[in-house]
Amino acid sequence: MLDRDAHWIADAAGATLHRPARDGAAGPATVSTDSRDAGASGALFVGIPGARVDGGSFARQVLDAGAWGVLVRPEHAEDLDGADGAVLLHPDPVAALGTLARAWRRELAATVVGVTGSVGKTSTKDLLAAIVGRERRTVATVGNLNTEVGLPLTVLRAPRGTEVLVLEMAMRGAGQIAELARIAEPDVGVITNVAPVHVELLGSIAAIADAKAELLHGIVPGGVAVIPAAERLLDAHRPGGVRIVTFGPGGDVERAPGDLAIEGDVPPTVLRNLPAAVAAARAVGVDPTGTVRPAISALRGERLTLADDVVVVVDCYNANPMSVTAALDDLALAGGERRVAVLGDMLELGPDARRHHAEIGAHARAAGVEVLVAVGELCRHAGPGFGGRVHWVPDAEAAARLVPTLLEPGDRVLLKASRGIGLERVAEALRERGHDR
Ligand SMILES: Nc1ncnc2c1ncn2[C@@H]1O[C@H](COP(=O)(O)OP(=O)(O)O)[C@@H](O)[C@H]1O
Ligand SMILES: [Mg+2]
Repeated sequence: MLDRDAHWIADAAGATLHRPARDGAAGPATVSTDSRDAGASGALFVGIPGARVDGGSFARQVLDAGAWGVLVRPEHAEDLDGADGAVLLHPDPVAALGTLARAWRRELAATVVGVTGSVGKTSTKDLLAAIVGRERRTVATVGNLNTEVGLPLTVLRAPRGTEVLVLEMAMRGAGQIAELARIAEPDVGVITNVAPVHVELLGSIAAIADAKAELLHGIVPGGVAVIPAAERLLDAHRPGGVRIVTFGPGGDVERAPGDLAIEGDVPPTVLRNLPAAVAAARAVGVDPTGTVRPAISALRGERLTLADDVVVVVDCYNANPMSVTAALDDLALAGGERRVAVLGDMLELGPDARRHHAEIGAHARAAGVEVLVAVGELCRHAGPGFGGRVHWVPDAEAAARLVPTLLEPGDRVLLKASRGIGLERVAEALRERGHDR
């Protein structure tokens, strides 16, 4: 609930108030960009122009359904004559949404934590929210709403009285994190790591480090930067006026404290982010102790237990050299009879893609993988590195047919690929065979 009137909201968004809210209306219950729910929920609907549809064209329908108001481009004003509810106009609704979110962030006076990095943003955010949430009224990004639309919506969802805001920040190009930091004005900035992910966007790993470091430069004076101790690429980005806390081997926070217990089915890869979450919790002023039960977002290492003691780790949310290496290391420690790795293409790796796939093959061998199923064109290059017999298939559909025929009792299975490969299809096939317990 934004307990502010239409004048304040228009002003805060830098928008023109074309028509006031309904008589006697309090502020909007929430802010939404989804025309399907904005009406019923009494929201301020933000009509975002997209590649195919302009969200603004739903403004009338949304007002008729009971929305508190709409924020749309001026060209939509005419269609809204006679409709009930506030009408705010701005030529760039996404920019206005960000400006409004920043104003609300200032109203809240919560401690804001921004989390970025190549790998482990969502996991770190989930862990941190669970640790801090035991003691403080905490609002965190839901799932992956980490862009210039998702981040403002998260800020605007936070009710008055929120004490800590944990915001995931995505990087889809130079300048994007800087923009998100301008909206969030973080007191604490966390960089989980710097790794070759989305190399195609920026060209090099050094450029990726520079883009992540935009967060450090956006931390408010007197704030705290939480960064990996071992990452030399961030050395040039230690902003003045901000306290630096390092985590990981050789850092200020090397591991989680012994009196912090993490409960529930939390995959080992997710727990790699615990030192960063602990450092960030302390930066917020929360001492990480006791038992916490984090809610881990889906597809990030879910465990599926099948008949005949077959255990499958479903980690198909994304894949890159860093996360695949970590997942293979976990598989090596998984016990059982045989280790079976079903690895799909790692996308968007740029010119070194082949080399990265070959190295993953070699790492699978080093991790003691007995059966390697390689899925997709790039994964052909994993074969030579692996050395042993490789079952190659062109896509997830073919893998879904093959993998169930390969499994034996006691197998420990890893499913890992970039999201675009759809490797969860293999998990569905295994479930469909009725092996799920
Ligand atoms: N610190 C880490 N090191 C290696 N792999 C990791 C780490 N954290 C997470 N992962 C892997 O990366 C995948 C994506 O994790 P997630 O937390 O969603 O990251 P992001 O939000 O940055 O995309 C997980 O499924 C897991 O396999
Ligand atoms: Mg994420």
